[in-house]
Amino acid sequence: MSRNYSILYLLTSLLAFPLSGAQPSLLSAANFKKPEIEVVGPRTQGGVVCLPDYFPLQDFDPMRPKSVVSYNLTQYDESVTVGPSDTFDSDVLELVQSLTLAEKVGQMTQTHVLFYVGCDGNLNVTAIEAAFRDQKIGFLFGGVSDFMGRFAFLSPQRFANITNTIQQIAISVGSKIPYMQGSDSIHGANFVKGATMFPAPVNAAATFNPIHAFNNGRIGSKDSRSAGIHWAYAPQADLNTQKLWSRNFENFGEDPYLSSVMIEHAVKGFQGNYKLDRARVAATFKHFIGYTTPINGKDQEPRYIPMNHLLEYHVPSFKSAIDAGAATGMEAYGALNGQDTISSSLLLTTLLRDKLGFKGLMTSDNREIFAQFNQHFTAFSYLDATFQTFNNTSIDVSMNFDVNNTVSTLIELVETGKVPMDRLDLSVSRILQLKKDLGLFENPFSDPSLIDTVGSPQDVELSRNSARESLILLKNNDNVLPLSPKEKILYVGANFNSTRYITGAWNVHFDGPSDLEGDAVYDGHSDTILLGIQSITGTAPNWIPGYSIDGIASTGYETIVREARKADKVVFFFGEVPATESFGNIDTLRMAHDQYDIVNKVYEHTKTPIILVLAQNHPYSLGELSSAADAIINANLPGAYGGLPVAEILFGKISPSGRQPYTYPKLDYQAAVTYYTPIWNEYDPEFAFGQGMGYNNITYSNITVSAFELGLNSSPITVTVTATNNGQLDQLEPVLMYTTQKIRRGYSPEHYRLRAFDKKLITPGSSETFSFNLTAQEMQFYDIDSNLVYEVGPVDITINAFNENSVVASITLV
Ligand SMILES: *[C@@H]1O[C@H](CO)[C@@H](O)[C@H](O)[C@H]1NC(C)=O
Ligand SMILES: *[C@@H]1O[C@H](CO)[C@@H](O)[C@H](O)[C@H]1NC(C)=O
Ligand SMILES: *[C@@H]1O[C@H](CO)[C@@H](O)[C@H](O)[C@H]1NC(C)=O
Ligand SMILES: *[C@@H]1O[C@H](CO)[C@@H](O)[C@H](O)[C@H]1NC(C)=O
Ligand SMILES: *[C@@H]1O[C@H](CO)[C@@H](O)[C@H](O)[C@H]1NC(C)=O
Ligand SMILES: *[C@@H]1O[C@H](CO)[C@@H](O)[C@H](O)[C@H]1NC(C)=O
Ligand SMILES: *[C@@H]1O[C@H](CO)[C@@H](O)[C@H](O)[C@H]1NC(C)=O
Ligand SMILES: *[C@@H]1O[C@H](CO)[C@@H](O)[C@H](O)[C@H]1NC(C)=O
Ligand SMILES: *[C@@H]1O[C@H](CO)[C@@H](O)[C@H](O)[C@H]1NC(C)=O
Ligand SMILES: *[C@@H]1O[C@H](CO)[C@@H](O)[C@H](O)[C@H]1NC(C)=O
Repeated sequence: MSRNYSILYLLTSLLAFPLSGAQPSLLSAANFKKPEIEVVGPRTQGGVVCLPDYFPLQDFDPMRPKSVVSYNLTQYDESVTVGPSDTFDSDVLELVQSLTLAEKVGQMTQTHVLFYVGCDGNLNVTAIEAAFRDQKIGFLFGGVSDFMGRFAFLSPQRFANITNTIQQIAISVGSKIPYMQGSDSIHGANFVKGATMFPAPVNAAATFNPIHAFNNGRIGSKDSRSAGIHWAYAPQADLNTQKLWSRNFENFGEDPYLSSVMIEHAVKGFQGNYKLDRARVAATFKHFIGYTTPINGKDQEPRYIPMNHLLEYHVPSFKSAIDAGAATGMEAYGALNGQDTISSSLLLTTLLRDKLGFKGLMTSDNREIFAQFNQHFTAFSYLDATFQTFNNTSIDVSMNFDVNNTVSTLIELVETGKVPMDRLDLSVSRILQLKKDLGLFENPFSDPSLIDTVGSPQDVELSRNSARESLILLKNNDNVLPLSPKEKILYVGANFNSTRYITGAWNVHFDGPSDLEGDAVYDGHSDTILLGIQSITGTAPNWIPGYSIDGIASTGYETIVREARKADKVVFFFGEVPATESFGNIDTLRMAHDQYDIVNKVYEHTKTPIILVLAQNHPYSLGELSSAADAIINANLPGAYGGLPVAEILFGKISPSGRQPYTYPKLDYQAAVTYYTPIWNEYDPEFAFGQGMGYNNITYSNITVSAFELGLNSSPITVTVTATNNGQLDQLEPVLMYTTQKIRRGYSPEHYRLRAFDKKLITPGSSETFSFNLTAQEMQFYDIDSNLVYEVGPVDITINAFNENSVVASITLV
C-alpha cells in the first residue's frame, strides 16, 4: 500500500465513525468505506485482455473429439508407390511464372506459429494477416498450444479452427496461395488432443513387424489432417548408433536393414496415395544425414563418419524412404566431418539428388541457415549464410524463426545476381506441386468429417497392438514371469501410475506434459500401467512410488524392503522424464544411485524374486542389478496406451515377442558399439541386438539352403527353417536371419549383419516354416574409396544369432 492510500484510508475511517451512533456499536463496521487499494489488473493490448506473464498452467481445452467406435478408413493399394516426380504440372509451372520475386521467396519460407499468437494466447489475426500480406509466407509449423497459447492441448476442433482461420487469410491476401501446416508428429498426431498416441518408433522397431510403423503413420496422418496439418516431420531414418544421444527413441534402432524396412512402411503409412487421399500427409525423412553419432553423445555435437561407413550403414534407410516415395526430407543440424550440412553440396546435392535421386521437397531444420552466421562461425553474415545454402545445395524451404531476414537476404541475392532466378523457380515448383498433390488447390480447408474418428477405439487398438508386440523379455530365471493374479505383488516406481512418463517426448508438448498438467491434460485419452494391472487382477495394486522419476528416493523408500519381504514378487519400474534434443542430454548411462541401492537392498535383505521393467528413453546401465533381477523386460516407451499391454505381458495374457532393435550397453564405454562391429573386436553388451524371448520354448530345426555357393551372377539362395512352439501360449515369433562372412580380404567382416526377418503366429504344439532369400549383392560392401566391392569366402547364415535357440547353415561366396 502506498503512503497516499494509507492516508486516504485513515481519513475515510475517521469520517465514518461519528455517523454510526444510531446502530448497535458492534455493527459499526458496516459504515466503513471500502478502501481503494491499487492493484495491477490484467494487461490489455489492442483491446484484448492478455494472459499473465507467468502462465505455467494453460487452460485445458474443454472440447474433445467424439472418437466413434468404428469407422471406415479409406483403403488404397499400398504396394503401389506414389511419390514426387521431377516434372511439374503445367498449371503449377504457370503459377510459378506468374509470381513476383517476393512471392517466390515467401513460398520458400516456413516459420513457427508462435509468432502469430496474441498476448491473449489466441491466434493474432492481425499479425498473421501481415505475414501473408507482407512476407507472403508459404508454411507454418508447430501448434498454438506451445509457448504462450491459451490452451494446453488443442482438440482437433480447435486446432482445425485455427488452421482454417489461417488458411482463409492465406488464400485472401498476398499471393493467395494456400499455406501448408507442418508438425512434429513422431508417434501419431501427438500435438492434437485425443489423437491416438502410438508407442515411440523404437518400439515399432522392436516389434520386428513393419505393420506397426505403417499404422503409426496411417492413423497419425488421418488425425493430423483432421486438425488441418498437412505435413509430418517423420519418420526419422537416423540410426541408433550412439546410446547417449537423446533422440534414439524417435528412430528405428541401430540396424540399417531393420530401419530401412520400418522406414519404407512408415512412409507408406503416412502418405499412401497422398495425391488422391485427403486423409494423408506428406512424410519427411530426417535428418539427412549422419546426425545420429555425436562424438560426445550430446545433441547437435560434431559427427565424424567415414564416407564408406556413411554409405554402408547410414544411407540405406534414407534410400528406403526415397524409394518408398517420401515427398519431403529434412537436413540435419550441425556438421558432418567438419562441414556444415546446411551448405554441403556433397551431401545435399551430390548424394541426395544425384546419387539417391530424390525429387521431392527438402527443408532445412529449424534456424539452420542462419546458424551458419550466428552459431557455427561458417558464414560472414546472414546474407553469406543464405548464399551458401542456396548456391551450394538443393534446399527448397527455410525453416526459421527469422522470416524478415530470410526474405530480405534471398531477395537481395537474386536481385544482385548471386543466386539465379531459376534456382528459386525449381524450389517453388517443388513446393507448389506438393501443395497441389495434397489437394490444397482443390480445397484448402480441413475435412470436418475426420474429426469424429480421432481417438476411435479402433485406432487405440492398433496402438495397443504395437505396444503388445514391442515389449522385450530379456531374462526370466525359473519362469518368475508371468505373474499370477493370486500372487502378492509389490510394484515400485514413479512411472507406474503415469501416462506421460511412459510416452516420452513429442507428447502434448515438445517435452511432454508439465508437472502441473500431469496426466489430466489427456482428458482420459490415455492409460497407465496401474490401470492395466487393475483391469487384469480386479484389485488395486500394492504400489509404492519409492523414488522419483529421476530415480531419487521419495515416498515410501524406507518401507520397500519391509513390503518386499511380505510379497511373493516385487516389480521395479525404471523410468525417465520425457525429453528430446539438448533437453534430453545426459552425461552418463549411470542412473541415480538411490535406484540401484533400493533394488540391491531388496536383493540382500529378502528372498523375494525381483523383476525389472525398463520404460526409459536411454538404455541405462544395470550394473549389478542385471544379476540381482530374476526377470527383465525392456518396454522402451510403449506410449499413452502402453499400460494395458505391459500388464498383459506381465500376467501372461500374451507371450512377449519384441526383440532388441539396438545394442543395450553395459557401461558408457560401449555407448557407440553396435552389433556390426568387426568380428574380432569386443561385442559383450548387457543385451545384444535382436535379443529377446517369449514365455514359450521355441525350437528351430531343419535349416536348409537351396545352394551352397553364391556368386554375383547366381540366383538368390533360399534359406528355410522350421520353428516349433513347445509351449502353452500362442507365440508371435520374429525370426531374424543374419550373415557372417568368416573371412573378408582387407576389411574385417562384421560380427553379423541382419539380412532378413519375418514374424508369424505359431500356435502351441505346431510348427511354422520361414523362408528367406539371400543375394550376393547384399554381401557387397563399400571400401575405403567408396566403391561397392565383393569378396569371396565362407559365410555363416545364422537364425536368431543372439538367442539361445539359434541355428546355423554355411555357404561360400564365389
Ligand atoms: C463401412 O463400410 C461398409 C461397407 O462399405 C459398410 O457396410 C459399413 O456400414 C461402413 N461402416 C461405417 C462405420 O461407416
Ligand atoms: C497482434 O499483432 C499486432 C501486430 O503485430 C500487434 O500490434 C497487437 O498488439 C497484437 N495483439 C495482441 C493481442 O497480441
Ligand atoms: C475460431 O478461430 C478464430 C480465429 O482465431 C476465433 O476468432 C474464433 O473465436 C474461433 N472459434 C472458436 C469457436 O474457438
Ligand atoms: C560450395 O561450393 C563450392 C564450389 O563447389 C565449394 O568450394 C564450397 O566448399 C562449397 N561449400 C560447401 C559448404 O559445400
Ligand atoms: C556456388 O556454387 C557453384 C556451383 O556449385 C560453385 O561453382 C561456386 O564455386 C559456388 N560459389 C561459392 C562462392 O561457394
Ligand atoms: C518484418 O517486416 C515487416 C514488414 O515487411 C515489419 O512490419 C515487421 O516489423 C518486421 N519485423 C521485424 C521483427 O523486424
Ligand atoms: C494415479 O494418478 C491419478 C492422477 O493421474 C490419481 O488420481 C490417482 O489417485 C493415482 N492412483 C494412486 C493409486 O495413487
Ligand atoms: C525346449 O523344448 C525342447 C524340445 O521339447 C527341449 O529339448 C528343450 O530342452 C526345451 N528347452 C527348454 C529351455 O525348456
Ligand atoms: C524336418 O525335415 C524332415 C525331413 O524333411 C521331416 O521329416 C521333419 O518332420 C522336419 N521337422 C520339422 C520340425 O519340420
Ligand atoms: C525368393 O526369390 C524367389 C525368386 O527368386 C521368389 O519367388 C520368392 O518369393 C522369394 N522369397 C522371399 C521370401 O522373398
